[in-house]
Amino acid sequence: MTRTLVLGGTAWLGRLVAADARDRGHDVTCLARGESGSVPDGVRLVHGDRARPDAYAALDGEWDLVLDVARVPSHVRGAVAALGRRAGHWTFVSSGSVYADQSGPLDESSPLLPPGEDEAPYGEAKSACEQALPSGATIVRAGLLAGPGDPSDRSGYYVARMAAVPDEPVLVPDVADQPMQVLDVRDLAGWLVDLAVAGEPGAVNAAGAPSTVGELVELSVRVARHRAGTVAAPAERLRELGVQEWAGDRSLPWWLPPTHVGLGRMSVTEASRRGLRPRPLEATLADVLDDEARRGPDRPRRAGLSRAEEADLLGRLAR
Ligand SMILES: NC(=O)c1ccc[n+]([C@@H]2O[C@H](COP(=O)([O-])OP(=O)(O)OC[C@H]3O[C@@H](n4cnc5c(N)ncnc54)[C@H](OP(=O)(O)O)[C@@H]3O)[C@@H](O)[C@H]2O)c1
Repeated sequence: MTRTLVLGGTAWLGRLVAADARDRGHDVTCLARGESGSVPDGVRLVHGDRARPDAYAALDGEWDLVLDVARVPSHVRGAVAALGRRAGHWTFVSSGSVYADQSGPLDESSPLLPPGEDEAPYGEAKSACEQALPSGATIVRAGLLAGPGDPSDRSGYYVARMAAVPDEPVLVPDVADQPMQVLDVRDLAGWLVDLAVAGEPGAVNAAGAPSTVGELVELSVRVARHRAGTVAAPAERLRELGVQEWAGDRSLPWWLPPTHVGLGRMSVTEASRRGLRPRPLEATLADVLDDEARRGPDRPRRAGLSRAEEADLLGRLAR
């Protein structure tokens, strides 16, 4: 039986990875503090705080596969030092944010940001994590993820809004041609386990099929059965009105600043060669809408506009 260790496993992607490996018959252990959530049924949780020197003390045995989702370089260094000789193949979940210039197309040979320390911004920290891995590791640089349970609240914003108020126009950024790639987190989780089992070293991008913001909005309209059309506001006007790109409060997801449009232009040639086969975006959006309905579309969100903010903005834009 394959012995698989997930460093993480209590949050969104890591939990799905642990469940996928379990479903394949692996003997799965997760190491985490247990603060982010639980591990899937049938998976062992070993408590450990990777910020502490004794983080891995309770992990005994050997591992065929290690999969890590860390963003803190010292956590990766600590794991490699503590487990290195007891661990087979390492697979690390990195990010497209490691690329130094994200304003254009990104392939695996694009230059990386200089590695940073633990407190460094996300991209620099992930770049340092990559450097801390044992030789022969598989490095998976993920782009924008979507799917049920998205903790960022990005992927469900438009479908939830459109389904909740199907007869009122929806505010979207006027960037229909902006390239965008969205990868279903479940497809990534399963593929990560495939990659770990295959054990091929080196970096590979993990991104969705090339698409555009316009296509994503159209698919959302169809999935949500929205009837009232969109109001496409110029990017400059939205910025003047205090709306931000990408994520966070008072934002419009999928709209990227010019410095980051490359995150919608990640090469997937190598990913396809290694077997990534994303499901159709429409299927992801339909499941995201079901999940939004369960979670409550009017809950406070980490991304998007509240209904009141959107109504206020539509009013101002109409003046
Ligand atoms: N969302 C996106 O669009 C996107 C895009 C590109 C890449 N990514 C990457 O995708 C991955 C997402 O992973 P995820 O969804 O599983 O969520 P996450 O929030 O990144 O996961 C963090 C995991 O590490 C554990 N952890 C954090 N601090 C710890 C500590 N001090 N000691 C031990 N464990 C610790 C957490 O568990 P406890 O809190 O229970 O300890 C949790 O299981 C990340 O690698 C992220 O960088 C995401």
